[in-house]
Amino acid sequence: MSSITRRSLLRIGSMATAAAVLPTISAHAEEPAKNRVCQILGIQKPVVQAIMFDMTNAELVAAVSEAGGLGVLSMTTIDQVAEVQALTSKPFAVSSFLTDEDTAAALKDAGVKIICAGTVQFPTHDYGFEIEGFSAGPDSIAFWKDHGFTVLCKQLNATLEGALAIQDAGADILIPVGFGAGGCAPYNTTAAPQLISEFKAGGVEIPMLAAGGIVNYDTAAACAAVGAEGAYCGTRFLATDESNCCDAAKKIIVQTHSEDLVTMPTSLKGEVYSLVPCIKNDLSEKAIDMWRSGATYDEITQFNGTNAQFWASMSAGNIDEWGVGMDRAVNLITSIRPAADIVNEIAGAFGC
Ligand SMILES: Cc1cc2nc3c(=O)[nH]c(=O)nc-3n(C[C@H](O)[C@H](O)[C@H](O)COP(=O)(O)O)c2cc1C
Repeated sequence: MSSITRRSLLRIGSMATAAAVLPTISAHAEEPAKNRVCQILGIQKPVVQAIMFDMTNAELVAAVSEAGGLGVLSMTTIDQVAEVQALTSKPFAVSSFLTDEDTAAALKDAGVKIICAGTVQFPTHDYGFEIEGFSAGPDSIAFWKDHGFTVLCKQLNATLEGALAIQDAGADILIPVGFGAGGCAPYNTTAAPQLISEFKAGGVEIPMLAAGGIVNYDTAAACAAVGAEGAYCGTRFLATDESNCCDAAKKIIVQTHSEDLVTMPTSLKGEVYSLVPCIKNDLSEKAIDMWRSGATYDEITQFNGTNAQFWASMSAGNIDEWGVGMDRAVNLITSIRPAADIVNEIAGAFGC
């Protein structure tokens, strides 16, 4: 290992990307894979758990993978990869925002075989603030492909042009994030089924996972009907027995209605505005007021920090001070359940 330590090697910023540990399909297939996503990832159920800062802990990742889906570690270190491997022998994912030789070598040493290359962002509108320059682009996909990894690519602020570029760069699976998603809200306002439908008609041939507000059978089925071959789900997995989200935040998620949510401007990695759907409270109201009255990016950042600080509070438990982030489909999340239940329900929409 070179100048960086194993622990720090895969540490990432809040906009993470994912890499998956993929033993060969034959090594783990209890039954033949039923769709292209399952075939590519070596899993039984085409449900991928989205990365959500430190809330996607080893227990959640392993539970999703044990159920036949694909768990994804966020804020990944090689130690965490080992923690998951101790809990499951099934494929799972890890995240890395880095694309360098040391990282690729460390992932390979650890048995990682699939990368979901960076969140790729293609700004389509002028929102009055800079949103370029922080996300990985198609180059990162090519990097991971060149190093022999299978590549999932999550595309925030998805456009057809961007989707085709991701496909051309060699991604194996595309995840266009639709409006309504938790985390950093996409700047464009197209929902998951429309994105999938448009991209299929526009020439995207690699399998696509529906993302953004996919929380149950029905929301997944709406996307399956237009060609999604699986789902990438974040918020729904927060309210599970296994997630590292604090109990108070889990309870708030199952009680919250989307009309109680606001979209708060905050800082992404201290670089650009990010818009975070979250519960309305003093912090979010003040930040929104500042934004509306023309406060500078630096002023807002000084006031409410980064989205990483915000999300860290959801695991640490100081949500009174910060708040709780979630997606716009929370009306449909009414109970805290085992992760395996979620995988099974959503996979049913894809016939798996
Ligand atoms: C609380 C929370 C934290 C998140 N943190 C991250 C993150 O650190 N990095 C990232 O790339 N995406 C993050 N996301 C976004 C998810 O990876 C995913 O795109 C999103 O949750 C999908 O929409 P859904 O919540 O409607 O399922 C986060 C989402 C939530 C709800």
